[in-house]
Amino acid sequence: MHFLYIACLPALSLATSPPPPTQSNPTKPDIARQHAYEDDTSLVKKYVLSNYRKTYREPNGTLEHPYLVPGGPYDQSWDWDSVFTGLALLDLGSAPYLAGSMKNFFDQTNSITGEVTICVDPTTTSPSCSSDPADNQASGSHAKPLLIQGALIAADFTGDYEQFHSYKNKMAALLKYWEDVRKDPNTGLYTWHDQMESGADNLVLSTCPSPRSGCWVDACANSLAAPDVMTFLYREHLAFAKFLDEWGEDGGDEEREKAELIAKAMNDVLWNEDDGFHHAHNVTSEYDIDFATYVLGFPLWAGEDAITKERATAIVNRITSPDMLGEWGVRSTSSENEFYNNEDIITPYSNWQGPIWVNSNVITAYGMLDHGFDDEALVLVQRVMAALAADLRETGEWHEDYNAEDGKGISAAGFLSWNTLGYRMADDIAKKINPTKV
Ligand SMILES: *[C@@H]1O[C@H](CO)[C@@H](O)[C@H](O)[C@H]1NC(C)=O
Ligand SMILES: *[C@@H]1O[C@H](CO)[C@@H](O)[C@H](O)[C@H]1NC(C)=O
Repeated sequence: MHFLYIACLPALSLATSPPPPTQSNPTKPDIARQHAYEDDTSLVKKYVLSNYRKTYREPNGTLEHPYLVPGGPYDQSWDWDSVFTGLALLDLGSAPYLAGSMKNFFDQTNSITGEVTICVDPTTTSPSCSSDPADNQASGSHAKPLLIQGALIAADFTGDYEQFHSYKNKMAALLKYWEDVRKDPNTGLYTWHDQMESGADNLVLSTCPSPRSGCWVDACANSLAAPDVMTFLYREHLAFAKFLDEWGEDGGDEEREKAELIAKAMNDVLWNEDDGFHHAHNVTSEYDIDFATYVLGFPLWAGEDAITKERATAIVNRITSPDMLGEWGVRSTSSENEFYNNEDIITPYSNWQGPIWVNSNVITAYGMLDHGFDDEALVLVQRVMAALAADLRETGEWHEDYNAEDGKGISAAGFLSWNTLGYRMADDIAKKINPTKV
């Protein structure tokens, strides 16, 4: 039944115009806040220390390697949750679980087509790899292009690159999949299959989030190009290049050239000089989607070879404007957007139409460090730390998203996942280290 049908119209007609980018940056670190930040950080670290083991799982069923789960309602292996949780907990012994999570995904990658068999848990409609073999169903979806980067984080930390050598063909197949299936020949842009695949389930960039929704028509598939997928893929090629170098194999330069082409397409087609950020783009309708969302910060994370200092500065100005940066961190969607809300939504989609998400803030902060915006990075981390600490004081646990207006936890009580970045983010920012640099 399709009476919820909303035609997948190009989002352009719905776009609100963003406020003019601020000239001076309003986000210098607040000295008065320093004391609270230290208390918040120590509370958050303590919580991680007593709970991190809940994210570790031993091999089970089709998952032959140890892996990570997000916690709370999510007891499955998820792609980007694993990468960020594994990164967060390296000093607490996560490397084998991070490496194992990536190996499980590689095991489920078809070495010819590069498709990843992910599993659909019928009770939660979560894209996941459940530990229950009976849950395994091939799906039209695909893992985010972050798996090679995840493997690289584990390899860099342990110095053991060889453990992934036997997955070389799987890595190559994954990258080839994006090239063959997701690259728009006209623009050189790469697309998400649907918004849910991007991990930002109901983000306003898409007119229809996924096939799980009544509004879906097949024309919606593979139409959304956005700075997040471009950044992921850029980094994914660089990560593969590093593995090839470490293994003493040829091909690293070729991968670096492919990365450059991805950055070029992102900059040539998506950049909007007036708005000062990379738009999203519908490759089917050829419309630009100019909504300001958290993904506008992601190109910072591609590093200084990918975007110019001028563009990085414009992006930082835009993302620290008051409609994007609130008291508790960067909003998933601008408060000026007509769809902006902080409602408690989890099924069928987690809410990315306003709430604060920890992963996107930390990624943006790491990206800021790469371009020398150390103060702004500190501000983001202080604010997110404050939300995490306030949640612990109030409820004794964490949630997957935070109300951008009052900082309160919204959904998925018990969530750990990338919120555990709270364990290391203050130290990284203090030392000006981006541990995700490729
Ligand atoms: C393995 O997975 C099954 C199904 O999800 C679960 O019931 C069981 O407790 C798991 N075993 C271990 C050792 O984790
Ligand atoms: C892109 O445009 C096509 C054609 O208008 C539409 O069907 C599709 O849903 C749009 N994609 C997104 C992500 O909004």
